[in-house]
Amino acid sequence: MGFGIGFGKVILFGEHFVVYGLPSIVSAIDKKTTALVEIGNGPGWSLEDRRPETPGYKKEKLEQQRESIAKILKAAGVDPLKTPIRIILGGDLVAASGIGASAASCVAIARALSDEFGLGYSDEKINEIAYEGERAYHGTPSGVDNTAATYGGLLWFVRGKPIERISIKQPVEIVMGNTGIVANTEAAVAGVRARKQKYTEKYDEIFREAERLAYSARKALIDYDLRKVGRLMDENHKLLQEIEVSCRELDFLVELARENGAYGAKMTGGGLGGNMVALTPGEDLQERVAKAIEKEGFEALRTRIGVVS
Ligand code: MEV
Repeated sequence: MGFGIGFGKVILFGEHFVVYGLPSIVSAIDKKTTALVEIGNGPGWSLEDRRPETPGYKKEKLEQQRESIAKILKAAGVDPLKTPIRIILGGDLVAASGIGASAASCVAIARALSDEFGLGYSDEKINEIAYEGERAYHGTPSGVDNTAATYGGLLWFVRGKPIERISIKQPVEIVMGNTGIVANTEAAVAGVRARKQKYTEKYDEIFREAERLAYSARKALIDYDLRKVGRLMDENHKLLQEIEVSCRELDFLVELARENGAYGAKMTGGGLGGNMVALTPGEDLQERVAKAIEKEGFEALRTRIGVVS
């Protein structure tokens, strides 16, 4: 039996802008998807998806997931008609939008295939295969999600460039608030593309600002100036609102987190639902913000960024 894992992730800066070659900052979180691969009864492949989920997520993504697995098998050079396989997904990462669930599962499956068939794939190869799998979920992804799911840690990611690790003094507590809305990243990315073409000047200005924010944030993280990181997250959220990928529920949770003392907060990932992230250094502040979110009937995940994996 082959086994593999993929990390969940949180994008701290630069989602959407990263699709166009701008820098982004992403951190793996301590929740993972696991995959087991074993020889099945065939013909073809079968899947048992035991991941915890936001209600409706798995059903909504089923078609994309099937296509994704077919792409992963092809990229890994495994022909399930010759070698039937059974895949079992599990782990403690909730299958939800904005937390890297699809990427984590692609990485976990690629690793489990490598393990089962003795392929000895490097992280680089695993990342490449997972990228193929991600294409089924959102067309032409930037690769930020599968990269975080493969390598873990806190990363500076620019499309097509080697990743850079960002090293910080110590991990920082965050809270991720889940709107419970299953979102469609492909639609969110397509919407930005259409509006970018229509309102060129306005979007050019927003994009320049997003790039400036990412560089400032990298410096603030390295300097461990968490107040500044928080302010920059707030600014990043404003830009994401301007490109129309936030929504009422995300804005509500972002505001709620700030009112309860978060250093900063923003939506994270594709938007139009899914998750937000609040910077909440220290367990007391983290608990206060998480409780405030839960009191309003939403799920809150207490985790940390910058953990060396
Ligand atoms: C999704 O987690 C991040 C986006 O920037 C899409 C991508 O990078 O491919 C919205």
